[in-house]
Amino acid sequence: MKQKLAQILENSTKEIELAQDLKILDEIRIKYCGKSGELTQILRGMKDIPAEERKEIGSIANSVREKIEKSLEDKLNALETAKLNADMEKEKIDITEPAIGVKRGTLHPLTRFNNKFIEICVEMGFTVIQTPEIETDYNNFEALNVPKNHPARDMQDSLYITDSILMRTHTSTAQVRAMKMFKPPFKIVCPGRVYRNDDDSSHSPIFNQFEALVIDENVSLKDFMAMIKQMLIKLYGENVKMRVRPAYFPFTEPSIEIDATCQICQGKGCSLCKGTGFSEFFGGGIVNPKILEMAGIDSKKYSGFAFGPGIDRSVMVTNKIPNIKYLFRNDLRFLKQMR
Ligand code: PHE
Repeated sequence: MKQKLAQILENSTKEIELAQDLKILDEIRIKYCGKSGELTQILRGMKDIPAEERKEIGSIANSVREKIEKSLEDKLNALETAKLNADMEKEKIDITEPAIGVKRGTLHPLTRFNNKFIEICVEMGFTVIQTPEIETDYNNFEALNVPKNHPARDMQDSLYITDSILMRTHTSTAQVRAMKMFKPPFKIVCPGRVYRNDDDSSHSPIFNQFEALVIDENVSLKDFMAMIKQMLIKLYGENVKMRVRPAYFPFTEPSIEIDATCQICQGKGCSLCKGTGFSEFFGGGIVNPKILEMAGIDSKKYSGFAFGPGIDRSVMVTNKIPNIKYLFRNDLRFLKQMR
């Protein structure tokens, strides 16, 4: 029995020494110390050994088991360390290699303009609303004093869905909706997409407008101009100049067109502003009392003004964008230049 134990110790020690990976090591453990391993079997058979030998053999068997377990553990540690070292060698990081640049996103120039304009309006006490892009002919035209066959309908080439439903041609539809939604006095601004059957380098079938509407008692053209001047200062700085020209819209009376200092040449005159130093900014005017009455607002008590800047042109001019389509193409080469 002693000899057998010595044999087991010798064999297992050799095998452990030669083991090259964790799997083989585990097989060795099972072979000697597993449930039906060689050593386990001897330990289990102790009861059959004559009592006078049992103590000595038992202590040898236990010491053999301890030795085998210790060598198994040492070998396991050695193999794991070797594997870790090999992995680290393989995954060496070259800290001198140039870093991969992080691609940064950026807001679209239209979004930036939108955000800025909305911020200015909110500071001035406007409520921001959004109204549908698919509208009734009534809200887009009739309620704005543009009956069927009115020549003003030719000013806006409309995209109809049915005889009475169309893609809104302007955000002035928000005026009609707001007059029904709010009780005067109120100030609303409505940003949004509008649609017209128009397509060349400076016109796109989709473009963006803002609609602003102020309804209160005793509102005059003077209030309107003062507010516009403040807005332009906040948008373009203290030195901005504004120019007012007469215009015509069926829903405002009088109607005006407002120009602001050209942001490219700062008023000196350039090819974009055709040497005038001004660029067209938006149309607006005093709300036609007819519109108020149609919406059920007492035009003797209340008056108001409305204006509707188109923002695509301003964004094109200030960013020197030659074709309006670039704004809608989602081309990364273009967007990257708009940081
Ligand atoms: N809706 C007009 C347009 O699209 C602009 C406008 C808005 C004019 C508000 C007067 C008042 O041209």
